Amino acid sequence: MPRSKIAGIGMYVPENIFTNNDLLKYMDTSDEWIQERTGIKERRYAHRTEETTATMGIEAAKIAIERAGITAQDVDFIVFATICPDYYFPGCGVLVQRELKMKEIAALDVRNQCSGFVYALSVADQFIRTGTYKNILVIGSEKHSFGLDFSTRGRNVSVIFGDGAGAVILQPTEETDRGILSTHLHSDGESAEILAMYNPGTHANHWGTKNYADFDDAEISDMFMSHAMIDKAQNYPFMDGPSVFKKAVVKFPEVILEALHANGYEPSDLNMLIPHQANLRIAQFVQQKLKLRDDQVYNNIQYYGNTTAASVPIALCEAWQNGKIKEGDLVCLAAFGSGFTWASALLKW
Ligand code: UT7
Repeated sequence: MPRSKIAGIGMYVPENIFTNNDLLKYMDTSDEWIQERTGIKERRYAHRTEETTATMGIEAAKIAIERAGITAQDVDFIVFATICPDYYFPGCGVLVQRELKMKEIAALDVRNQCSGFVYALSVADQFIRTGTYKNILVIGSEKHSFGLDFSTRGRNVSVIFGDGAGAVILQPTEETDRGILSTHLHSDGESAEILAMYNPGTHANHWGTKNYADFDDAEISDMFMSHAMIDKAQNYPFMDGPSVFKKAVVKFPEVILEALHANGYEPSDLNMLIPHQANLRIAQFVQQKLKLRDDQVYNNIQYYGNTTAASVPIALCEAWQNGKIKEGDLVCLAAFGSGFTWASALLKW
């Protein structure tokens, strides 16, 4: 059975840099608070009308395709991970297929929030291993800036997120010392509501969502989308940050160790850990827990914020472009986020 290898990788971030001080125009916050609690100095925001989640994904994909030495017409499967789709439906995958003039290939959208890219990579990996596809395009892309509450009410969420995209081409390889060694996927829906965007949706408060948000009004609960929901900012993400933080610092090390141990490795064997860029403090906690040196962990949240499904491929691409990942290196990708869902992938570069 062949393994899959990353044959090409690309990233795209918008030109527009938005610093912490730029946020002060909209909300009561401070550069000091944001840097101290999250490590973020600045993030990129997409052009409001000229860039979308799909277009940024396409820009990253073009680079990955070129670096893999193939053309868009060679791609035989698209897996697109995002929580900021251009449309509620259809997904972004078909927009990529159309814009890159690809053949009538399969296109799948993955909705797994921060772990979306690692989940998408795992799905693609299975299709390569079974011999079904030979050139799979996996994209993670987010245009968060279009859907955040920029008032003080939403500051605990909005200061964290940024826009961008990353993409890889997965191909089969017969090389025994290269490629994706294993992937590990998990979920626990017990706390599904503590990091969520409730509306628009069909929940009608069925899941006790009102315990988390201001959902008392019957008119609000039995509508897919209403003026009252918008007035109460229920169309924006909700996050109980401290609870997410506590779970993340347990599940990140767990899933990284799971990947390493499944392949007979220990943390000291790792050349590079690419953690989902949720919060620099979480990454530092994980590094400390696993006793990893600074050169074994790549972080760039300082410059891009948390780009959810795009954060792992952006960090992986940048680390490789900066010469921090070399052929034969043992690399672990790990992510944790809303759901909760978490995942890891161990690969030999
Ligand atoms: O990738 C998706 C997964 N998400 C995560 O991994 C996020 C995990 N959680 C976190 O990163 C942190 O919980 C946050 C960065 C979101 C928040 O940091 P925190 O240290 O947990 O702060 P907190 O929510 O407990 O809030 C502490 C205080 C509150 O004020 P009071 O009640 O103590 O007076 C907040 O109102 O900080 C206030 N606050 C802010 N102040 C200035 C919250 N957001 C801000 C802000 N600027 N942006």
